[in-house]
Amino acid sequence: MKPREIRPKIYLVGAIDWDRRLFDALIPLPDGTSYNSYLIEGSEKTALIDTVDPAMGDVLINRLKQLGVGNIDYVVANHAEQDHSGTIPRVLGKYPNAKVVTTSRGKDMLMALLLIPEGRFITVSDGETLSLGDKTMEFIYAPWVHWPETMLTYLQEDKMLFPCDLFGSHLATTDLYVTDEGQVYEAAKRYYAEIMMPFRTSIQKHLEKLKGYEIDIIAPSHGPMYDKPSFILEAYRSWAFDPPKNIVVLPYISMHGSTQKMVEYLVGALADRGVTVKQFNLSVVDIGKLAMALVDAATLVIGAPTVLVGPHPNIAYAAFLANALRPKLQFVSIIGSYGWGSKAVEQLVGMIPNLKVEVLDPVISKGFPKEENFKALDRLADEILSKHREHNIVKGGE
Ligand code: FEO
Repeated sequence: MKPREIRPKIYLVGAIDWDRRLFDALIPLPDGTSYNSYLIEGSEKTALIDTVDPAMGDVLINRLKQLGVGNIDYVVANHAEQDHSGTIPRVLGKYPNAKVVTTSRGKDMLMALLLIPEGRFITVSDGETLSLGDKTMEFIYAPWVHWPETMLTYLQEDKMLFPCDLFGSHLATTDLYVTDEGQVYEAAKRYYAEIMMPFRTSIQKHLEKLKGYEIDIIAPSHGPMYDKPSFILEAYRSWAFDPPKNIVVLPYISMHGSTQKMVEYLVGALADRGVTVKQFNLSVVDIGKLAMALVDAATLVIGAPTVLVGPHPNIAYAAFLANALRPKLQFVSIIGSYGWGSKAVEQLVGMIPNLKVEVLDPVISKGFPKEENFKALDRLADEILSKHREHNIVKGGE
C-alpha cells in the first residue's frame, strides 16, 4: 500500500499487521494491529513521528522511498517501546542527519534498548516546541501512559495530536479514520484495559491537560485516527473517571463440576437481584475480555477449586492479572470447593494487595455444594447487592 496523505504534507507511512495475534507474548490481538508512523514535511524541516515494529521496518523504509524522502531532520520518539521505536536505528542509518527527539527519560531508555548513540538525540521538555518552518511541533510530557518516558506531540497549525499508545486500538484496518465506532470502542477499551488501566491516575491527568488544546484529529500509533476526537476522549473520560458500575466479574475454573455448580447458582442469584454478572471460564478465556470487564466492575468474585491445597494455577494467574491491572473494584469474594484441605482463600487474598477492596465472606464447599452452601451463596448475593447500594453503585429502588 502507498503512503496515505492525511493533510497536505502529512502522511501515514506506518504498517498494518493483519496477522499478529499476540503482543508482549501475553496480550491477545484478535483483530491484528497497526504501527502508525507519520511523516510531516514542513517548509524547512521534515519530521517522522514514531516508527514501526522492527518486524515491519521494510514497509516504513519503502514508504519513505515511495514519497522520495531524501532527508529527515527529526525522528520524534513519543514512546520508547519497540513496536514504535524498533525501526529508529534503521531510519537513522538511512538518514544520517536525523536526530531523535524525545524526553530525557526516553533518551535513556532508547540508548539502553536500541543502543542508539548519545549524539543522535535532542531532548525536549514539557511545552517545548520545534519548528519545521510552516509547521510547529509542541511536545507534551505525559509520563506513564504506560511507561515512564512517554510524551505526546501536538502539531499546532493543523491541530493534530500524535499521542502514540494513548487513545490507540489494536485494530488492523485500511480505514484512515474510525468508521465503525462500536468496533473501535471495543478495541480501544481492550487496549486501555490491558495497558493503561494500572496508570489510571496518570491518564486522568493527561485528559485534564489535553482540555487546554484544540484538537481536530487524534492520530494514535495503533488503529485508525479520530477525526471526531470527542468520541475517544469521552470514552476515556468514562473509563478513567466514572465510578464503578453494578457489575460483578466472575472468573472461574472447575475441574469436576463443584465450583461450576456454585458459579451457576451465584450468577442466577445475582441476576435475580438485578446485578449484572460477567462470567469467564478461565480454561477458554480471552484475557483481554476479562480485562475489559474489569474496567467498569464494582465487585470481583473468584471461582476457585483447590489444587494441592492452593487455588488452581489458572485462578492464581487471573488474581495476579487483576492485581496488576488495578481496576476500580471495591469488593472481592471467593467461592469454590476442596477435597480434603484448602488454603486457597488465604493464598488468593494474599495475591491481590494492590486492590483496595473489602473482602466479602467467601463460600467454600467440601466437595459438591449442598443446601448450606447454596444458602451461603444467597447470602453473598444479598451482601453484594447491599454493598453496591451502600456505596451508591446501585440506587436504593433499583
Ligand atoms: Fe504500542 Fe507501548 O507500545
